Amino acid sequence: MRQVYLDYAATTPTDAEVVSAMQPFFTERFGNPSSLYTLGQEARAAVENSRKIGADFLGAKPKEVLFTSGATESLNQAIKGVAEARGMVNGGLKLINGKAPHIITTLIEHHAVLHTCQHLERLGFSVTYLPVNQEGLVEVRSLKEALTDQTIMVSVMYVNNEVGTIQPIAEIGKAVKEKSKEIVFLTDAAQAAGYLDCAVDQLGVDMLAIAGHKIYAPKGVGIFYVRSGTLWIPQQDGGGQEYRRRAGTENVPYIVGLARAMQLVQENKEEVNNRLTHLRNKLIKEVLARVPRSHLNGSQEQRVPSNANFSFKNVEGESLLLMLDQEGIYVSTGSACSSGTLEPSHVLTAMGLTPEIAHGSLRVSLGKYTSEEDINYFLEKLTPIVAKLRETSPFK
Ligand SMILES: Cc1ncc(COP(=O)(O)O)c(C=O)c1O
Repeated sequence: MRQVYLDYAATTPTDAEVVSAMQPFFTERFGNPSSLYTLGQEARAAVENSRKIGADFLGAKPKEVLFTSGATESLNQAIKGVAEARGMVNGGLKLINGKAPHIITTLIEHHAVLHTCQHLERLGFSVTYLPVNQEGLVEVRSLKEALTDQTIMVSVMYVNNEVGTIQPIAEIGKAVKEKSKEIVFLTDAAQAAGYLDCAVDQLGVDMLAIAGHKIYAPKGVGIFYVRSGTLWIPQQDGGGQEYRRRAGTENVPYIVGLARAMQLVQENKEEVNNRLTHLRNKLIKEVLARVPRSHLNGSQEQRVPSNANFSFKNVEGESLLLMLDQEGIYVSTGSACSSGTLEPSHVLTAMGLTPEIAHGSLRVSLGKYTSEEDINYFLEKLTPIVAKLRETSPFK
């Protein structure tokens, strides 16, 4: 049976070129970068060269780039690290003008941010979760209204993982710094790095997170960018690796692989973006034309070229996913990270969809190996499956 993978926002296959760049570091070049002899120093050189490539990708200084186990770790390090540095003293809360330190984020962040913020709320921090409009976009006006004299940090994702919407990061960064240069601005760029410019100065961010497995590197490696001078306390204690800011022996092969993946993104971005925009636009146009009572979720314009997210009225998303699976088509309802739960997507409900409509949603995410035939196959199978599910639905 034909297999059509349309879930690149969940994860991507590791690029063959990335695998071959990594290969020697598992075997003959296996040294520990902390070892002083030649084998170790070769591994050290590979890590530092990868750091330079990461820095180039971000328009940053190499020492501002830390390698982590992925975006979840980077986001935890960032948020908890700033909270501890700015909002805690002797293990307790450090009040600012008699009030709890304050963090601003949005209702549509990944759980790596939301659950970290909830953890800090339990410690006494105050957190504002900004709403989004129906298009899935944060309005800068609401951010400005939420900033207070106690705000220590703002965390807004660059691209949403479910609906692919691109947030106005540079504008938000400007508003944050107008309020106070001391406020740390973090962005989760996990879903952006493959498609958008991640130059940290243009974005106006102090911290940024990247996940290797969204850009054709392996799972379990990522980047945590920290602008020099940012007040932050590392959250992982142990050895002195990563300039004493992220303890633990470096995952040399994966770090080398991530750097190669970043180079490939830079080399191919324009071509991939153009091709995916064409395929994705065709997909959206055809789905809306062929499937009655279908709806595109999220802004049509402010979205990455790889993402389409649909709602089908009176269709249960999980059943749709499973029936497509039987045809060899892999897609997702909501976010893969949160699937396994039957809760409607927190992103779609924040955009004003009812829980029923949110349940009938499908994320189709394209990637660099997606072909026109893949899209045609998906379109051919989708329409009869939706019709069949509606026939058996109790809600007509
Ligand atoms: C927007 C976003 N942030 C964070 C993450 C978590 O990244 P990782 O899997 O590298 O921990 C993901 C992955 O699903 C994501 O899509």
